[in-house]
Amino acid sequence: MEAGRASFVQGMEKAGRLAARTLKHVKPFIKPGITTNEIDKIVYDFTLSNDAKPAPLGYKGFPKSVCTSVNDCICHGLPTDYTLKEGDSINVDVTSIVAGGYHGDTSATFFVGEVSEEDRKLTEVAYTAMHKGINELKPFGKTGDVGFAVNKYVMKQGYFAVREIGGHGIGTTFHKDPFVPSFGKKGKGEMFRPWTCVTVEPMINMNSKPYSEHSIEGSDIKYYLTADGTNSAQFEHTMLITDSGYEFMTLDGEEVITF
Ligand code: MF3
Ligand code: CO
Ligand code: CO
Repeated sequence: MEAGRASFVQGMEKAGRLAARTLKHVKPFIKPGITTNEIDKIVYDFTLSNDAKPAPLGYKGFPKSVCTSVNDCICHGLPTDYTLKEGDSINVDVTSIVAGGYHGDTSATFFVGEVSEEDRKLTEVAYTAMHKGINELKPFGKTGDVGFAVNKYVMKQGYFAVREIGGHGIGTTFHKDPFVPSFGKKGKGEMFRPWTCVTVEPMINMNSKPYSEHSIEGSDIKYYLTADGTNSAQFEHTMLITDSGYEFMTLDGEEVITF
C-alpha cells in the first residue's frame, strides 16, 4: 500500500480503537447517581492518559470533552450537574484525536438501570438502523444508498429518522464532506471514495414532529430536543471505505452492546 494511505489507515485505526475503548471504559459508570459532568471527567482523564485529545473540547467553542444526550436529547447534549436516574437512556458520543490529528468518532445509547419497553425498542431500532446503513457502504457507492436503507428499516418499524443531522466524512478534520443522511434514494447523493472514512450515525425518534434547537453559551454547536419529550436514540461508528468494501475503525474487540 502507498505510504500516505497506509499512515492514514493506521492513524484512523488508532483513533477509532481508542474511541471504542473509551466507550467501553465509560459503560460500567452509567448507573443511577452519576452526573453527566462526571462522565465528562472520566472521558477527559481516560483520553489524556492514552496520549490523545478529546475532539469536542473547544470544537466550535464546545466546552466539554464528550456529548451526553439524555432521554429526549437527540444529539450534542452538554454534560452538566444532571444526575442520571433509573430509567434514563443516555447516548455517550466520544471522539478521540490521536497523534497526526486522526479522529475516531463513535457513540452508543446506554440504559440507566431498567428502562421502559418502549425506550428499549427505540434503542434497538437505532442500533439496527446504523448497521443497515453500514451494510450499504462500498467504494463508489452513494450516500443515498445508506440513507435509503436506514429510512426504509426505521419507517417499517414505525419510527422516524432525523433528516437534517447525520453522518459525515472524517479524518484529520472532525466533520467534512460527504454528509451521510438517514434518508435518500438509492444511487443518489455524494460518492464514497476508497480509502476515506465516514461516520454512520442515524438519530431515531418516536414521531416526525419538528424538534427544537437550543444554543450552548459561547459555542456555535447546538443541541436538539424532541418536540414532545419522547426519547431519541442513536449509535455511531467511524468506517473506512476500502477498495472492496468497508472496515470498522471504531471497534476494540467486540462491539459495545447496550441492550
Ligand atoms: N460527535 C458528534 C458527531 O458525531 C459531534 C459533536 S460536536 C461537539 O458528529 F462539539 F458537540 F462535540
Ligand atoms: Co459523528
Ligand atoms: Co459522534
